[in-house]
Amino acid sequence: MAKPIIVSGMQPTGKIHLGNYLGALNNWLSIQKSDKYESIFFIADYHSITENYSAEEKRQQVFDLACTYLAIGLNTEKSIIFVQSAVPECTELTWIFNTLTPIAELQRMTQFKDKSERQEKNINMGLFDYPVLQAADILLYDGSLVPVGEDQIQHVELTRDAARWFNNKYKANYFPEAKPLLTSCPRLMSLLEPAKKMSKSLGEKHCLNIDEEPEEIAKKLAKAVTTPEGVANLKLIYDTFKEQMTGDFDENKMGETKKIIAEGLAKHFADFRKRKKELLSQPEEVAKILEAGRARASVIAQKRIVEIKKIIGVI
Ligand code: TYM
Repeated sequence: MAKPIIVSGMQPTGKIHLGNYLGALNNWLSIQKSDKYESIFFIADYHSITENYSAEEKRQQVFDLACTYLAIGLNTEKSIIFVQSAVPECTELTWIFNTLTPIAELQRMTQFKDKSERQEKNINMGLFDYPVLQAADILLYDGSLVPVGEDQIQHVELTRDAARWFNNKYKANYFPEAKPLLTSCPRLMSLLEPAKKMSKSLGEKHCLNIDEEPEEIAKKLAKAVTTPEGVANLKLIYDTFKEQMTGDFDENKMGETKKIIAEGLAKHFADFRKRKKELLSQPEEVAKILEAGRARASVIAQKRIVEIKKIIGVI
């Protein structure tokens, strides 16, 4: 029997933080290791241009995220790894799904509402259409399982709806119903405001980035708030990396406990940091890897878009 297809991506908008890692990236690694799935992981650059950005910075962010993917252990022999915008069939499918998606469904999306508040001078059509592009990302490759954090569940639900709208309208049993795959930490909270999820949009000090130097990790953790919610969040981090921790989690000695967590995290990501630095000095190698991934993704995308166009009557 064919293996289920896993599809997921991350936006190149800055450093990858521990929330991204515990909610998604670490799961991608387990999925890859299990050999039970076909996995497709990409860099969602077209999603990220819906926010304010500069072209030069974006190029750097895409490269940085590619280095993160490779250094953390995504393996091109086991997974297809590429940049979203390099496979234009995805935006073609977005258009097709646009014609099936009721505006009211997109107006309900909480991420759209949040981002509209954050960038009220740039509420562009792409920001609104964002979940439709995400549905196309997943369904273009026949993805049925989507390893993401909790904040993406609503988008995966819209993906499932898009598949249904398409299958019903065209009386085709073509697209699968995608489901999110969550980890035991689907929503890591901010270090400074643990009522909110860890997010780049809150600011650097709220996040622990996975490629951060040990001193920086220790500094940020030292400032992490220790309200009951904050302690619970730190406990979650401690428990997830338990194997690397060299002492107990003691709620009455949070200063000490934070140092233990900082050392454990620094140790866990030491090899990753080293490999990432090497890759950052090899842009041509990284470009070749992404090009090979693009070629593999394109073979699938080109075949599928022809099938889809036949179903909808434009070929
Ligand atoms: P993005 O780039 O915001 O986040 C990448 C992944 O990290 C998860 N995540 C978290 N998990 C736990 N705790 C947190 N604090 C936390 N913050 C972020 C996110 O849920 C996500 O899994 N729209 C997507 C990118 C995307 C995509 C796709 C994903 C585009 N197309 C197709 C899956 C399939 C996004 O913005 O993720």
